[in-house]
Amino acid sequence: MTRPEAIPAPLWHENLYIDGHWQAAASRFAVHNPATGAVIAEVASGGVAETEAAIAAAQAAQPAWAAQPAKARAAILRRWHDLIVANAEPLARILTLEQGKPLAEARAEIFYGAAFFDWFADEAKRIYGDVIPSYADDRRLLALRQPIGVCGAITPWNFPMAMIPRKAAPALAAGCTMVLKPASATPLSALALAALGEAAGVPAGVFNVVPGSAAAVGNTLATDPRVKKLTFTGSTEVGRALMARASGTIKKLSLELGGNAPVLVFDDADLDAAVAGTIATKFRNMGQTCVCANRIYVQAGIHDRFVATLAAAVAAMRLGDGLAQGVAQGPLIDADAVAKCERHIADAVAKGARIVTGGKRHALGGSFFEPTVLAGATHAMLIAAEETFGPVAPIFRFEDEAEAVALANATEYGLAAYVFTTNHARIWRVGEALEYGIVGINTGATSYEGAPFGGWKESGIGREGGRQGIEEFLETKYLCIAGISPLG
Ligand code: SIN
Repeated sequence: MTRPEAIPAPLWHENLYIDGHWQAAASRFAVHNPATGAVIAEVASGGVAETEAAIAAAQAAQPAWAAQPAKARAAILRRWHDLIVANAEPLARILTLEQGKPLAEARAEIFYGAAFFDWFADEAKRIYGDVIPSYADDRRLLALRQPIGVCGAITPWNFPMAMIPRKAAPALAAGCTMVLKPASATPLSALALAALGEAAGVPAGVFNVVPGSAAAVGNTLATDPRVKKLTFTGSTEVGRALMARASGTIKKLSLELGGNAPVLVFDDADLDAAVAGTIATKFRNMGQTCVCANRIYVQAGIHDRFVATLAAAVAAMRLGDGLAQGVAQGPLIDADAVAKCERHIADAVAKGARIVTGGKRHALGGSFFEPTVLAGATHAMLIAAEETFGPVAPIFRFEDEAEAVALANATEYGLAAYVFTTNHARIWRVGEALEYGIVGINTGATSYEGAPFGGWKESGIGREGGRQGIEEFLETKYLCIAGISPLG
């Protein structure tokens, strides 16, 4: 396809990246711009054979990569970070073109993604083991930390420029190699990142990208015995299926799965901060993040003012093509995403909710959907149980703290939760009582490369980011050295 003028040729790739080579495949699939519906690329579709070739390349490259001193791996990762930052503008355009998010959010994601390479470049140098006090005077005992080996990664379409670095940076820092299957909606981001990795000096075979179907590429990564670790971000449903497949070869797993994030707004909250924080968590990426607010519980005393202030701010949001100036909300990723918003709203209204603003497809057509606020939501509604993954904010009224915590925890999910209060004792009580991996207090934006990201319950297994992030790519080896005769 024709490369957009604003994207330099070295960043625009439509072929597989295996063992340091760009290669075509027998078939191709179309990548669409969700803002216009236009086909922007025809990307090579890898199958089982290509995935197996990439796994073989990753396996062959792994020992030499792991043998490089940590400092050498760190230098390459830091160069990768620097190249992403230097190319932030065209990368942001690629992201908006294939994903739809406003350019300002795309730019922020480029820097957020790059930061994982910076962070884990340093962590590569801090993979410490243990010296264990011995039980015998002729023995020395150690616990070594070693790379697990070849890793399979399956990444989502909502944050391709951040989720790929969040997995690749710790894996490579640990001395592992990787075969990545990017989401079929957003493969161009993955291929651009691979090109910059190569320019940064990542050796052939260390990082491979195989776009293609879940049935071929994803399934091979989940079942091939040479893949020792599978890391996935996506829905709980798919995570469960991958877990079952990966059990055949007992792979180590990291699963970043669905959320159903509650926001708790107490009477003593700062109203403006609560509204701004709720907008940040609900409407970022048009509501398509797994840490997005899905249920907004507001205490009776502040409820009406909160609903009115939130609805006014939401009604003022400008929708449009993410590449246009001043746009706050782009299109949803596809027609299914629109249908889910419609289904949740129809169900809520049928069960007594009131549409305060929005509530339907936007006049722009395609997959544009009006940012929506619903009042009068209850736990009888679908929207309380299922992740909407769209710009619909349902508001539930509550009376006291114990009720709010019980409602917030009444879900099988446990990824992120948010609390707005100025009461310090409540911050501790509620922060500790929420059954979630991430709790934002008086903020709707918590993501940071140096902090552990991950969920409790059916929201996943493992953590990404922070010092915990690299643990997921390491094995422990107990070394017991006998026969050390005493001095002299
Ligand atoms: C996600 O939806 O998984 C990513 C959100 C984030 O990292 O902030």
